[in-house]
This record gives sequence, structure tokens and C-alpha cells, in this order.
Amino acid sequence: MLNFELYNPTNLIFGKGQIEKLSTLVPKDAKILLAYGGGSIFKNGIYDQVISNLKGFEIVEFGGIEPNPRFETLMKAVDVIKAEKINFILAVGGGSVIDGVKFISAAVNFDGNPIDILQKRILIKENAMPFGTILTLPATGSEMNSGYVVTIEATQEKLASGGSALFPQFSICDPTVIASLPKRQLENGVVDAYTHVMEQYLTYPTDAFLQDRIAEGILQTLIEVGPGVVENPTDYTLASNFMWSCTMALNGLIQKGVPSDWATHMIGHELTALYGIDHARTLAIIGPSLYKVMFETKKGKLAQYGRRIFNLTGSDDEVAKEAINKTVEFFHTMGMDTKLSQYTNDYDRTADFIVGRFEERGWKGLGEKQLVTLDKVKSIVEMSY
Ligand code: NZQ
Ligand code: ZN
Repeated sequence: MLNFELYNPTNLIFGKGQIEKLSTLVPKDAKILLAYGGGSIFKNGIYDQVISNLKGFEIVEFGGIEPNPRFETLMKAVDVIKAEKINFILAVGGGSVIDGVKFISAAVNFDGNPIDILQKRILIKENAMPFGTILTLPATGSEMNSGYVVTIEATQEKLASGGSALFPQFSICDPTVIASLPKRQLENGVVDAYTHVMEQYLTYPTDAFLQDRIAEGILQTLIEVGPGVVENPTDYTLASNFMWSCTMALNGLIQKGVPSDWATHMIGHELTALYGIDHARTLAIIGPSLYKVMFETKKGKLAQYGRRIFNLTGSDDEVAKEAINKTVEFFHTMGMDTKLSQYTNDYDRTADFIVGRFEERGWKGLGEKQLVTLDKVKSIVEMSY
């Protein structure tokens, strides 16, 4: 097992009816920026619950944070915070709203040009504005981690960053909020969380027995509840297990003591930036090709995954190959198209474009051993056409 430090200060409040605790979680002297997305919270009653549990607090609303939140929009919120003398932010939404709020929290007190936080990947370790979240879409784990992904519209770049000062102070996760989610978003949530586990598990063996078993437990739970929850999001057993699996997939725990990959995400972000494809769907396109191209370095873990998750038998080679097929099958069950050509006709130059971008950024080798070099990126993207 590799050495590690585990730091996670987020107070996670999980379960039915927990939004009622909101007023006890927000600091007493808070003047709140209530940040939300395109308005789903008005239709499903979450807005009303929030407002009725914040009586007595001064609130300024900031809506319109879009899916794949944009730097340009978020900077408008920074202006509002400064003008209104806000001292606390409440994010009510999915990964996009929560990620957007993390960037706002970082940018408000940043000494310099906030675009540098993204383009120079500056980690925020102090001076962030405190914030809490109410999660409305289980998927990203953003409610219990310190990372975020923001798109710069002007340059069509989707960039990830974070820092230890960007953990939410609290996150309320009430599984009943998923009742109003469209099926497509539920499917996305399952596949995003599944791939988060794969990024931290499907590397090379480091004798981290417990981390492997926890990771496998999350994968098995997602396979167990995923197909059902997208059909019956009001089933509390399915909803609660789905929501907790998504949080556990990316709250830092399973990544301790093991290497992590993240190349599927880095390549996938480019497909969202270029074509606007939903985040999870980009992972379903890229992941399987990456496992094939990086087969030799991942074979040991692929074989373990195949035996423990899908009960496959045979040689390491056979089991590892079949495990990739089973993964694609699961993505299909979860409503994913797994080829880029199913999303756009304009794909033939995608690999060269992405390789060019990575080159400009100096990203010469991604993945757990930096072996996903630019020629491998090209092969992975071309195999995904
Ligand atoms: O904007 P509103 O009107 O709220 O509608 C949203 C949005 O259209 C809707 N929605 C959310 N909760 C709902 C609901 N509709 C009905 N009922 C509800 N309860 O769903 C749509 C998608 O929301 P979004 O927040 O974009 O989805 P998701 O949670 O999948 O977040 C995706 C973003 O997170 C980033 C992705 O790159 C992407 O930008 N990620 C963040 C990570 C992190 N911080 O750790 C890790 C992930 O790998 C990911 O990269
Ligand atoms: Zn993801």
C-alpha cells in the first residue's frame, strides 16, 4: 500500500427530510448567496424547502449556472458577492452548480486574475469563501470533495482544478430529491460514479486489499441498483444506495494508498468541450478504448475486476478481455451509446485536435504511470470513433 494522508472536513448529512437541518448548518451571521442552475429546483419543490428552512437569513439569489459551468457566468456571481457583501454561499444543484460554487469561492478572494486559477491550475489552500451544498443529482461526488471542473467559453476549454480549501462545509444529501431527475441524468449519474471508481481502481496492484474491496463494493452496488433506479427513482432503497455510492466513489477514500489514472476523464472533458456531450457519456465512449489500448499495464487489475465483479473464469488474458466487454454491456444497459460517431458526424479530426491541445498544455503522459502518451491518446480516441 502507498503512503497517504486523509483529510476530509465536509459534514455530510444524509437521508430523507434532512434539508430541515439547513438553518442549523449555515453560520449564524451568514449573508447567503443562494446559487442554482437552470430552474429545476423551482419545479421539484427543493427551492421552497430551502427558503422555508432559511427564515431570518439574508439571501441573494444567483441562478443560471449552466451544466458544465462557465467561467464567464461564474465571474458574474463573484461580482454580486462583492457588491452585496455576501459571506457564505449555498449551492443547490448537481455537480455543475456545486463545481461552479467552488470556483466562485476560490475566485472571490483571489489575488490576481481568476482565469489563472483554471489555466495555470492554481490549487486553493486558503482564503476561499465558505460554502455548503444541497445535492440534487448524485453523480460527481463534488458534494464531498475539493475538486471542480469549469469551462472557459471563450477558449472552449474544460479545465479541472481544486484545493484543500474547497471542501464544502456541509452537504445535505436527501435521496428523495432524485424523483424529478430525467432518466438521462440518472443514467449519467450511475456511469459517472462507476467510472470514478474505475479511475482509482483499474491501475496496477499495490496490495491495498481494503481499498480494492471497497471499490469493488461500490461497483457491485451500482450494478445492483443502477438499472432499477433509472426506472424507479422514487424507490427509497434504490435511491439511497445510488446516492451514497456516488458520494463514496469520489470522496477521496478509495483513492488513498493506491495510484490513480484519470486519463479517461481528461480525454472525456475534451469531448464535452468540443461537442457538448454529457460528461458521463464521454466516459462511456473513452473508457473501454483506454482499457484496450492500455491493456498490458492494466491486465492484472482487469483480471481481478473480471473475476470479482462478473464472476469470470479463465486465464488472466481471457478474463481481462471479457471484463472490458462486460463493462461495455453494462454501459449499454445504462442507456449509453459508446461510440463518438453515435453523437456527432464531425469526428474524424478529433484525435489530432485533442493531441494538439494536450501538447500545448505540456501533458505528455497521463495515467497512473504517465504511460498514456500522446500517441496512445491518439489511438484511444481513434478507437472510440
Ligand atoms: O440546472 P438545473 O435546472 O438544476 O437542471 C439540471 C441540469 O440540467 C438537472 N437537474 C439537477 N438536479 C435535478 C435536475 N433536474 C431535475 N431534478 C433534479 N433533482 O440535471 C442537469 C445536469 O446537471 P449537472 O449538475 O450538470 O450534472 P452532474 O451532476 O452530472 O454534473 C456534471 C458536471 O460535474 C463535473 C462534470 O465535468 C460536469 O461539468 N464533474 C465534477 C467532478 C467533481 N467536482 O469532482 C467530477 C466529475 O468527474 C465531473 O467531471
Ligand atoms: Zn466524472
